[in-house]
Amino acid sequence: MDKERIVTAMSIKEDEDQTLRPQRLEQYIGQDDIKEMLDIYIKAALKRKEALDHMLLYGPPGLGKTTLAQIVANELGVNIKVTSGPAIERSGDLAAVLSSLEPGDVLFIDEIHRLPRFVEEVLYAAMEDYVLDIVIGKDHESRSIRIDLPPFTLIGATTRFGDLSAPLRDRFGVVFRLNYYGVNDLEQIVRRTAGVYQNDIEEDAVNALAKRSRGTPRIANRLFRRVRDFAEIIGDGTINKEITDHALSKLGIDHNGLDHTDYRYLKSIIEKFGGGPVGIETISASISEEMTTVEDVYEPYLLMEGYIKRTARGRVATEKTYQALGIKYYKGLFEK
Ligand code: ADE
Repeated sequence: MDKERIVTAMSIKEDEDQTLRPQRLEQYIGQDDIKEMLDIYIKAALKRKEALDHMLLYGPPGLGKTTLAQIVANELGVNIKVTSGPAIERSGDLAAVLSSLEPGDVLFIDEIHRLPRFVEEVLYAAMEDYVLDIVIGKDHESRSIRIDLPPFTLIGATTRFGDLSAPLRDRFGVVFRLNYYGVNDLEQIVRRTAGVYQNDIEEDAVNALAKRSRGTPRIANRLFRRVRDFAEIIGDGTINKEITDHALSKLGIDHNGLDHTDYRYLKSIIEKFGGGPVGIETISASISEEMTTVEDVYEPYLLMEGYIKRTARGRVATEKTYQALGIKYYKGLFEK
């Protein structure tokens, strides 16, 4: 059986723990530039008593896009309706959510790049003019009717900015890219989580968790819960460095925060494809993972940390990867 998956594309049920989600902007840790701008946009919208401009949040999974959308709604004092691209199959589904909105409400569409194209087209007029154009009847009997909508704010989230069509992208007044979190921010998040769960945690354990969470709060919180299980069952409940290291090694997470899928990916490039360049489809097939998962979940962190490089001819493993895998590195013929 496969080991427990620590890095996944989707938020699993446990991550929906609402008690961990900060409710206000000032409680949200990290992404300082975004917070600063959001604060201004929210205050300006409140002052003018207008709906906030439509907003697109993009970046790797687990960095807090849904949390930010909820915070925006809280700060504006409006309701939030949450749905996702794949959940809206017909334009009628979209019409149903849109017509349930009250003035100023937030509609959050996760994975907005997966909206069917004909649904997207209905969304254009809704975003631009707050109207819903729907076709009723069939063939020569059909006619189009227009329904007015209240002003609302669409917040779209995506891991794949490039997959959004240009007309949809252009309709967002505000576009934010979320970045991986630094160790200091993740330490604060881990301390906050320990506080919420009322667990004692030692500072070197906070640091170990933060360093091994791939810059991702969702992973920090997921690892925290696993480590806390170990602390409560084999320890005295206090989360210390020893228990943390033990639990993380049991989970197959190394001191760099890489898990067994990262290693399978990196090993594949080196052992099967001579260090690259090799195309992502080929690598994904060789480790039996979906290409989109590899591209959206695994690669962004490995790229940022310098384990791989992306070239026109495919992925290339860097010297850092050879070191991490303990394999002797010969500078490639093609390397500059
Ligand atoms: N929990 C998850 N992400 C968080 C963040 N950015 N700030 C505070 N708590 C969080």
